[in-house]
Amino acid sequence: MAWSRIAVFASGQGSNFAALVQAQREGRLGSGNIELLVSDKPEAPVAQRAEEAGIPSLLLRPKDFAGREQYEAAIVAELKRRDIGLVVLAGYMRLISPVLLEPYAGRIVNIHPSLLPAFAGKDAIGQALEYGVKVTGVTVHFVDGGMDTGPVIAQRSVEVQSEDTAESLAERIHQVEYALYPEVVAALADGKVTLNGRKAVIAD
Ligand code: GRF
Repeated sequence: MAWSRIAVFASGQGSNFAALVQAQREGRLGSGNIELLVSDKPEAPVAQRAEEAGIPSLLLRPKDFAGREQYEAAIVAELKRRDIGLVVLAGYMRLISPVLLEPYAGRIVNIHPSLLPAFAGKDAIGQALEYGVKVTGVTVHFVDGGMDTGPVIAQRSVEVQSEDTAESLAERIHQVEYALYPEVVAALADGKVTLNGRKAVIAD
């Protein structure tokens, strides 16, 4: 299994998916190659983006399966068939069960729009505004069985301005995501990330 063979999982707009595809086109994804989009929402805009980019997609509705395990087993079968080595969650709005976590232990990453462990879960940007923090940001982390609880790989801060709305702050956070995620995915694909306990290190 090569880490360079990547599946991106997304449920919505897919702007991070698009940023990763763009990075690959521009040679900024290291040895990473996006082989597959997986989405639990066949009607989501991200599916259209994959089609336009010529990237194969696996679009499965969880409700068409007997349960989460069966749904994930179908995904794992396709990941194995395509020899996928790295799973990149980009706005995938589901918790991952052991059916997927175990075969891909240490090879699933996520991006979250806050400086974890602050504001885990849904609407992290709204949570940060509501709390009144002056600095928030973006976290890329390994995925474990919890909600945004896995070891942090990289973080970048974004200042909150007094006039910020959820939209204006989200826009600046997204721009940071589009830069940071390809950098981290490239490092992962190139085998430059090591994990010791909860401490992840990216080699130069
Ligand atoms: C991003 O803000 C990401 O941090 C979060 O979900 C959002 C996905 O946006 N996990 P998009 O679908 O990539 O546009």
